[in-house]
Amino acid sequence: MIGLPHIAYGGDYNPEQWPTEVWDEDVVLMQRARVNVATVGVFSWAKLEPREGEFDFAWLDDVLDRLHAGGISVDLATATASPPPWVAHKYPASLPVTVDGVTLSPGSRQHYSPSSSDYRRLALRLVRKLAERYHGHPALVAWHVNNEYGCHVSHSYDDESAEAFRQWLIARYETVDGLNEAWGTAFWSQQYSSFDEVLPPRVAPAQPNPSQVLDFDRFSSDALLELYRAEVEVLREVSPGIPITTNFMGFFPGVDYWTWAPHVDFVSDDAYPDPSDPDSVIWAAAQRDLMRSLRGGQPWVLMEQATSAVNWRERNASKDPGANRALSMQSVARGADGILYFQWRQSRSGAEKFHSAIVPHAGPESRVFREAAELGERLSQLDSVIGTRVPASVAIVFDWNSWWAAEQHSTPAKMSYLDALKPWYRAFYDRSVTVDFVHPHGDLSGYDLVVAPMMHIADAATQASLDAFVSGGGVLAMTYFSAILDNDTSVHLDGYLGELQKTFGLRIEEFAPVAAAEGAELGPVVLGGELAGGASLWREYIQPSTAGVLATFDGALTGLPAITRNERGEGTAWYVGTQPDGELTETIVGRLLDEAGVRGILDVPVSGVEAVQRGDLVFVINHAGDEATVSIAGVKHVVAGREFLTIPVP
Ligand code: GAL
Repeated sequence: MIGLPHIAYGGDYNPEQWPTEVWDEDVVLMQRARVNVATVGVFSWAKLEPREGEFDFAWLDDVLDRLHAGGISVDLATATASPPPWVAHKYPASLPVTVDGVTLSPGSRQHYSPSSSDYRRLALRLVRKLAERYHGHPALVAWHVNNEYGCHVSHSYDDESAEAFRQWLIARYETVDGLNEAWGTAFWSQQYSSFDEVLPPRVAPAQPNPSQVLDFDRFSSDALLELYRAEVEVLREVSPGIPITTNFMGFFPGVDYWTWAPHVDFVSDDAYPDPSDPDSVIWAAAQRDLMRSLRGGQPWVLMEQATSAVNWRERNASKDPGANRALSMQSVARGADGILYFQWRQSRSGAEKFHSAIVPHAGPESRVFREAAELGERLSQLDSVIGTRVPASVAIVFDWNSWWAAEQHSTPAKMSYLDALKPWYRAFYDRSVTVDFVHPHGDLSGYDLVVAPMMHIADAATQASLDAFVSGGGVLAMTYFSAILDNDTSVHLDGYLGELQKTFGLRIEEFAPVAAAEGAELGPVVLGGELAGGASLWREYIQPSTAGVLATFDGALTGLPAITRNERGEGTAWYVGTQPDGELTETIVGRLLDEAGVRGILDVPVSGVEAVQRGDLVFVINHAGDEATVSIAGVKHVVAGREFLTIPVP
């Protein structure tokens, strides 16, 4: 971790955009806002190396010295996120190429192919120089590698990427026969006679090979990871002992953070919930839970958020007074030991000049600055929270491979992995039940209840792990379009689900997605029986063997099972063969929690209020504008609008 005795508080600091008189004021204002860490240099490459091989560190020396003199620590960026124009000018092959062959130009940021050898050589030289120069600097507390890997370019289809993809495939399959087998190239005459013939899945006349697409997704995440690790290797050599991170982006589709998390010393995350969407508070909570889960519950750092509006939505709502405090405390409650922003001072020019900051265009005499300073003060009183853990007895299985595979073209209906997951998360959130996310191969032993929404890929290890969880006494719920494929995207035959047929006591014969009704995005599904209610999108022909039926389909599938429950060993396995609506999901979750013996923190849910245990405190956060009264273990507590309370665990 950053290792400060206080919760880290601060943000991206880009002094290169300002004259030095402003730097003097910056340090004074940072102290006033109780800022104790600044992320410096994220987009400074052009200033640090204005011409190839010509380095200028004098200004950065000055910045770091000033911050140190002001008692502010530095999370120093490696500055490789945006190459200067001379890189593209001299090495045009370093530019990324889109799936349809368009070369992306410089002039904004992140214009490099992850597999470009020129970019890598130049980036690593810069990292080495920075590490050599600043390793001993007393302000340095962490290295911030690059910035939001993959944010704008997660996949590049250029020739160097094609070659790197081939090498990745050779390492994975060893022989071209192995690749042919895994990709099912007997279909549509796609059989390769040599790895040299293999390309990235560039735009083609019809649907590309799904295994090729999935492997390119995996490769692209790995290519960025390899690039990150190359920087880390330099930092570990030249600057040992300083913790290293790179900022993640929550539920970001381009990169599999499970594979990245072992390579950061602490997880850091950027989160920009949309203030105009009331549900964004819930998905923000999910994002914090995912970040905490990536490294087994280790505290993490909120590396970027906005004090108020962003500038990149079609309409950029500002945060209401107090909303930033409530969202920041949500992060702390869910495991963050640091609260930082993009950015310290709002830019005067450039593409993000209308993005909020701690010091807005209006200067420190502003609501935004006052609120940020007040929050800094409040956070400085929470030292005892640092390093403490967030207990959870419920886990949701989350898997980037399933996400990628389930949303490919040529599926039975247009699928959305996150839409399949969200109602489940929400039902737990509404009942103040804390949820961890877990990888399909993750350790389930600490949980009483596990939900696997649309876990499309289930290999033998996942099947065995889920079955052992149930047999050992756990409660498991899995939803439609799960356990359909093995790791290579070949279908599990004879009723899908593989060995999980035994776990759930059923087999699945056929899918029957519902055509969208007029005006509705998803076709309606009606369920009857014990768990009668509304659902959408999906139906399937389920044949129970040992499972009991809790709900049946209506319409053409009348009487056929939709939701089932199977007792196996000491536990139970629920199967949900459709997308239940919010109300039905809440009902099912209520039943699952009862069966697993798990209770929420609040005695009765209160809309807009969340409660989370961290260490020996319960955080109660009221995201609504009005005062709320909650009851915890029979005791009433009043929490003002957009305020929070910390109370000892009852
Ligand atoms: C992040 C990025 C920052 C800034 C911010 C604006 O994606 O890391 O540099 O662009 O968004 O919201």
